[in-house]
Amino acid sequence: MSQSVILTDSHNRTQVEMPVIDGAIPAKSLQKLRVTQDGAGLVSYDPGYQNTAPAISSITMIDGMAGKLLYRGYPIEVLAVESNYLEVAFLLNNGELPSTAAAARWREEIQAHATVDPFIVDLIRSFPRDAHPMGILISALGAMGTLYPEAKEVLDSDVRRRQVYRLLGQLPVVAAHIYCHGQGIEAEEPKADDGYIGNFLRMVRNFGLETAEEVPAIRAAMNCLFILHADHEQNCSTTAMRSIGSSHADPYSSMAGAVAALYGPLHGGANEAVLRMLEEIESVDQVEGFLQRVINREALLMGFGHRVYKNMDPRATLIKTLAYSVFEVTGANPKIDLALALEQTALGMEYFQARRLYPNVDFYSGIIYQALGIPADYYTVLFGIARAAGWLAHWQEQLEDPAQKIARPKQIYRGPDERAFVPLEQR
Ligand code: SDX
Repeated sequence: MSQSVILTDSHNRTQVEMPVIDGAIPAKSLQKLRVTQDGAGLVSYDPGYQNTAPAISSITMIDGMAGKLLYRGYPIEVLAVESNYLEVAFLLNNGELPSTAAAARWREEIQAHATVDPFIVDLIRSFPRDAHPMGILISALGAMGTLYPEAKEVLDSDVRRRQVYRLLGQLPVVAAHIYCHGQGIEAEEPKADDGYIGNFLRMVRNFGLETAEEVPAIRAAMNCLFILHADHEQNCSTTAMRSIGSSHADPYSSMAGAVAALYGPLHGGANEAVLRMLEEIESVDQVEGFLQRVINREALLMGFGHRVYKNMDPRATLIKTLAYSVFEVTGANPKIDLALALEQTALGMEYFQARRLYPNVDFYSGIIYQALGIPADYYTVLFGIARAAGWLAHWQEQLEDPAQKIARPKQIYRGPDERAFVPLEQR
């Protein structure tokens, strides 16, 4: 296939040949057309970056038409069943699955850096009990950044590695304290030998589950859910992490911004929004009426649609299956029947078919979390602490990429031309 494209400007017959690299053209090539006196040229206009690649990445690949998701080449379906979250975090951040020795070192380093400063716990407890957990998490991350001045040395790989250990080690502990603060209970003390997911769940007292049957089930479910949420290439919150990180801000401040992006209901906040939507629809006989409101643009079908997947999100398929294994222990969450009716009815409607709208990762996850007794406003915190592995992998990849620069997009200006100031008394 030709390794270049030629663009002809109909305005003055100028031509520019642009190299095609991995299916992309360097946007800067456009500057050779319609060059103005100040040396500027054509700009690409792409709201929401719908067709713009700001990075070359080796971390995660999504094939949206095929509904395929690979972390460093490994299919998500295999990792979700065969691996564990800490191993997947190693894979995402180091490019390969760890050897036994490397996995032990990774686990030991993360545990060794997992101590949360009492100042952070006091900050968490200073919030009103009903403060949204995501707002507390954003604040906690910003505050963590004040504790490690060395973290500003983002070009030092040893410094970066230590911050990766601290963030992966401390985030579950911070999240556990946020949950316990909201519940008005004390967090169990962290214990190293409980494993990464096990220790987090022990700290939150397994969200109230306690039988010998329930505890293993919630640990297995949470391990799978953390793996499924660990990365997803250039999504909105990862783009925020990369964009803030491109100014060489420390990773705590960059991640505070990523969590803020994830909080939005169009992104990670959708898992909470799905539960609120299901509560609003109430029963299966209201499904058609609700979907008609969606078609009339009066509501969004939360947990549906995706910028990349134009087929089933493979994670949604895995989470739907996982739900039933959780229900064997917790008892079925009746919301699953309503969600299934929504999915099946929507997928049979032209509006959703024509736009290739399918369930995404957020459609079924909240139904599991609710069955596990987790409050709806905490779901996106779980998404965020799982996604930390991916955010950190992208943050490092960007700093190691010599082609990367500070994120500073152009714009198309449609404001007023230069004009004289008019003093107040003359307006
Ligand atoms: C996540 O990017 C990632 O990878 C994200 C994520 C990750 O792991 O990081 O996968 C996690 O954020 C999943 C998405 C969670 N959000 C939701 O479930 C919220 C509901 N979904 C929509 O808001 C929407 O589908 C988005 C935000 C997910 C995607 O938006 P796009 O790509 O900008 O698509 P669009 O808004 O241009 O939609 C195309 C058409 C439009 O109709 P027309 O104007 O062309 O007629 O589809 C319609 C939209 O109105 N549409 C929906 C819809 N999603 C798209 N209509 C009703 N309900 C929806 N959910």
